[in-house]
Amino acid sequence: MRAYNATYAELYDDYAPITDDLPFFLEEAQARGGPVLDLACGTGRVAIPLAEAGHTVCGLELSEDMLAVARRNLTQLNPETQARITLRQGDMRAFQWEHLFPLIIIPARSFLHIETPEDQRRVLTCIHSHLAPQGRLILTLFDPDLQLLWERSHMRPVHMEKVKEFTHTATGVRYIVWMTRQYDLNNQTIQFDQYFDALDDQNRVIHRTYYPLRLRYTFRQELQYLFELCGFEVEAVYANFERKPMHYCAGSVVWIAKKQE
Ligand SMILES: C[S@@+](CC[C@H](N)C(=O)[O-])C[C@H]1O[C@@H](n2cnc3c(N)ncnc32)[C@H](O)[C@@H]1O
Repeated sequence: MRAYNATYAELYDDYAPITDDLPFFLEEAQARGGPVLDLACGTGRVAIPLAEAGHTVCGLELSEDMLAVARRNLTQLNPETQARITLRQGDMRAFQWEHLFPLIIIPARSFLHIETPEDQRRVLTCIHSHLAPQGRLILTLFDPDLQLLWERSHMRPVHMEKVKEFTHTATGVRYIVWMTRQYDLNNQTIQFDQYFDALDDQNRVIHRTYYPLRLRYTFRQELQYLFELCGFEVEAVYANFERKPMHYCAGSVVWIAKKQE
């Protein structure tokens, strides 16, 4: 996990302005109560709307640079909302908080940054010890597309795709993002090599920045067993944030788990 450095963190909110999961997390926080533990909280994308809705939120994040942006985003909030958010630097594979949580969330597929089965177990074990007896863990992933995995793992030379254009709000600079993906079928990882081109007003590239990122894709039954191994029972698996039934290749798989009785 090397991408989330200072320059990437500065661009993150404009590059990944995800909002489709927010009503879902607000509903769950309303049902479960707080405090909510937001693991890999990034720039506060989910923590902030939860706090604005009146929930107490603890955010844990590995990257100091993402946290710096989160802290700056907090300064835009009123003092009461700010006071409901606690941010800490830490690793979801080994964290300690003083209390238990009725709701622990890992939004935006961040669990996929955990690259080995051993580390995945460490994350889930650590979460288990911080989850209140009646609490819920919610994490989101994607369901791997086998055809895509097979085709792309055999693609040579590596194919560069344009994936996004966006404008950085703070500076007004326009960016084009290019990406190559390399699939490692043995280790179930995808290496994303991202190139962010900053453009001037005549579309000339002013500079290019390289942000490598690696994810470990996880199959549905694999995660089901992993949950069971770590003392969880799966309560629901949805194909999206509207709680539609799970189906193969779903883009946003939402897992809800609780402690085994
Ligand atoms: C895709 S971003 C999601 C950020 C935020 N949750 C959101 O929804 O916008 C993934 C985040 O996971 C963080 N991360 C990766 N590995 C981590 C770990 N082991 N412990 C805590 N955070 C981690 C990264 O630094 C990054 O901020």
